[in-house]
Amino acid sequence: LIVHLNGEFLPLPAARISPLDRGFVFADGVYEVIPAYGGRLLRLQEHLQRLDNSLSGIRMDNPLPHHAWQEMLMELLRRNGNGDQSVYLQVTRGPAFPREHAFPAHPRPTVFAMCTPIRESDPALREAGVPVISHPDIRWDRCDLKTVSLLPAVLMKQLAKDRGAFETLLIRQGLVLEGAASNVFAVLDGVLTTPPKGPFLLPGITRDLVLELAAEHGFPAQERDIPLERLLSADEVWITSSTRAIVPVTRVDEQSIASGRPGPVFAQFHDWYQARLA
Ligand code: PDD
Repeated sequence: LIVHLNGEFLPLPAARISPLDRGFVFADGVYEVIPAYGGRLLRLQEHLQRLDNSLSGIRMDNPLPHHAWQEMLMELLRRNGNGDQSVYLQVTRGPAFPREHAFPAHPRPTVFAMCTPIRESDPALREAGVPVISHPDIRWDRCDLKTVSLLPAVLMKQLAKDRGAFETLLIRQGLVLEGAASNVFAVLDGVLTTPPKGPFLLPGITRDLVLELAAEHGFPAQERDIPLERLLSADEVWITSSTRAIVPVTRVDEQSIASGRPGPVFAQFHDWYQARLA
């Protein structure tokens, strides 16, 4: 495994970061996860734009221009054999001493990137769908930033695992916002519905792609609040993310969604999505 750290390509064991790195000490950093198929990065510009947005949200400048990110990430993929990989990149405010919450006067950001093979999307999962649970959203009010402060997501994902579920849907004031690491869609009276962007959810790149596919194929879609109660009576529920694309949800908190089987709208969007990758 070859990784990128601060301008160098290194075998993983040679990549060293200071224990005083503010990413380690304060979770003071942001990240992206970008899927690549056959060495081609999917929606790279959109991911880099979201990176800019996350960085400006934590008052950091992007240490690299977009073209340098592109060259570096493509080189990283090449050095790891191309193929289907998901690229993880992280930028932190870098090492600083003494430990002090406020920003260092002259931050030296840490730039790290690695890739891991994308698991073949599991046909069994697609055929059976997955169970999810719901839980009050315990995160902060800037969920639109992709920060490495992921402890709430870690706890929510573990809770799902403990209960034999695949994901935890996060609820604020009765509304379903997103999953711990995914966006959420519901088919409501034939209309594909997802909550509007705002401070309480990550603007998912896969989410935007699904809405784009709907527009392209003339499938009715809307961005609208979804009360948890309404979700339970949906025709279909899905979750989306860069690493898993679209996953059909067949149970929420022990309650079956419609027939308890993945629906026809999911099958259609799965095909449209796959066609996009080809
Ligand atoms: N997670 N919402 C949250 C909170 C997420 O962490 C993610 C992605 C998404 C989906 O966004 P996208 O379609 O751009 O991947 C929504 C990544 C995959 C992760 O943390 O591993």
